[in-house]
Order: sequence, then structure tokens, then C-alpha cells
Amino acid sequence: MRKTIRDIRAMKAGGSKITVLTAYDAAMASLFASCEVDILLVGDSLGMVMLGYDSTVPVTMADMIHHAAAVRRGAPDAFVICDMPFGSYHTGVRDAVINGLRIMKEAGSDAVKLEGGLEMCVVVKGLVEAGVPVMGHIGLTPQTASQLGGYKVQGKDLEAARRLVAEAKALEEAGAFALTIECVPAGLAEIITSSLAIPTIGIGAGVHCDGQVLVGQDMLGMFEKFQPKFVKQYASLAPQIKAAVEEYNSEVRNGSYPGAEHSFADSLDYRQLLAE
Ligand code: KIV
Ligand code: NA
Repeated sequence: MRKTIRDIRAMKAGGSKITVLTAYDAAMASLFASCEVDILLVGDSLGMVMLGYDSTVPVTMADMIHHAAAVRRGAPDAFVICDMPFGSYHTGVRDAVINGLRIMKEAGSDAVKLEGGLEMCVVVKGLVEAGVPVMGHIGLTPQTASQLGGYKVQGKDLEAARRLVAEAKALEEAGAFALTIECVPAGLAEIITSSLAIPTIGIGAGVHCDGQVLVGQDMLGMFEKFQPKFVKQYASLAPQIKAAVEEYNSEVRNGSYPGAEHSFADSLDYRQLLAE
């Protein structure tokens, strides 16, 4: 059965860790859901992972809805959160609410996630009042990473640490049901986690968050490019995929694939056909 916001909040209260993985398509969503991952996140990281951009900035509402709808079809019983893309909630509360409602209605997502701190509280409040559950996202916020000076650990001096704690509390007060914390030292993420009633979901934020999120393709080892320190590869699919494709190439080229077992048997006498 599909989880509810109440179930997710109860997991923090009950001390059970929350597992979150990103998914962008029906096939992977279906696989992950069959493993009882608690939440599927249609991250705007799909810009890099699926669409070949070098940041999340170009990702559109159409992209997010296209992928989130596929995830919903692949995992009809999963709790699905969809990222609001850059630009879809930055031009006022009304635009944000229109776009949040579109994600829920057109993609069938259960909630949205958006990046930002104090400046986004009014948007979070507007969405929640309109019936759109919101997960916040603080620390390293990839949509505005260039303003932060790149992909760097956040909250490293006292002032920045204090600001992150204040942002977390303000987002909870604005009505966020959960909070992603990205690239923040473990002890600071622990302080934020214990100062909130809503669950924190960490990525590069240590073991004391109420849950963890990773990009599915990262934890499956599908990328051979640079991986951030916080990624653990639970499988090495890239070499396996390459070995399989190379074997296929060579079998097609040397005629050993397809074999008789992959071919349909003939039941006709072709002499007439050949004579025509
Ligand atoms: O877009 C994304 O994948 C995310 C998570 C990594 C938190 O926002
Ligand atoms: Na994201």
C-alpha cells in the first residue's frame, strides 16, 4: 500500500530509517519499488543522468512531468516525490502553486521537493495551503550551485551552520513535511535532525539523518565518471553492461548469435516460394 505523509513522519518518531532512491523511468521505478524502498524521488538530477546536461538548470516542467509520470506508471504503489525544476517556483507563489499542482495532477506524484531556505518559506507555505506536500532541500542546492561557489560542503563556519539550522526550522514552520540535507558535515546534520519534528533525508550529510537518498545510477555503479565522496557503489553495473555489449557485438559478428534456440523453426516447404 502507498505510504502517506503521516507514515513517513511516524518513521522518524518510531526511529526507523527512511530509504530514498532517485528513479526517472518506469523500469527502474518498478525494480526499486519491488525492493520496498520507502520513497522514490524523481530528482531533477535527471538533467545529468538521463538528459546529458551538465547541470540541473536546463531541466523543464515538461521534462519532470514526462519522467515522473513514467515513474508513477512503473510503481503505482510507491510514494513518489518529484523535484520542482529551476525556474518553476522562483517567480512568485502563484506560479509555484500552479506548477506544483501540475506535477501532482499530470504526473500523479505524491509531493514535490524544492531547493532553498528562508527565501522559499513563503512559497512552501503557499504550496502546502494549496494541498501540495513539500519536501525542502538545504545545504548544497544544485540549482544555485554556482552562487555557492560550486559543489562544496556547506555550513563549514559557525555563521553558515547557524543559518542552516534557522533555515531548517523555518521550512518546518512553513509546512514542509520533510527536509533533504545535502553535503553538510555529519555533526551539523545531526543537530538539525534533532531540532526538527519532520524527518531529514541526508545525502552527504552523515548517518544521523532520519533517512538517506542516493541517485539510483550512482549506487548501482552505472557511471565511470567522477563520483562524489558520499556515494557508495553497491554494485558495479558499468563494467557488467560493457562486458555484455562487447559479447553481443562479437557473437553477432561471428554468427554465434542468434542460435537455433533463439530462432523460430520452419514448418513450410519453401520449394514453391523459391520457384516463383
Ligand atoms: O535531484 C536529485 O537527485 C536530488 C537528490 C540527490 C537529493 O535532489
Ligand atoms: Na534535485
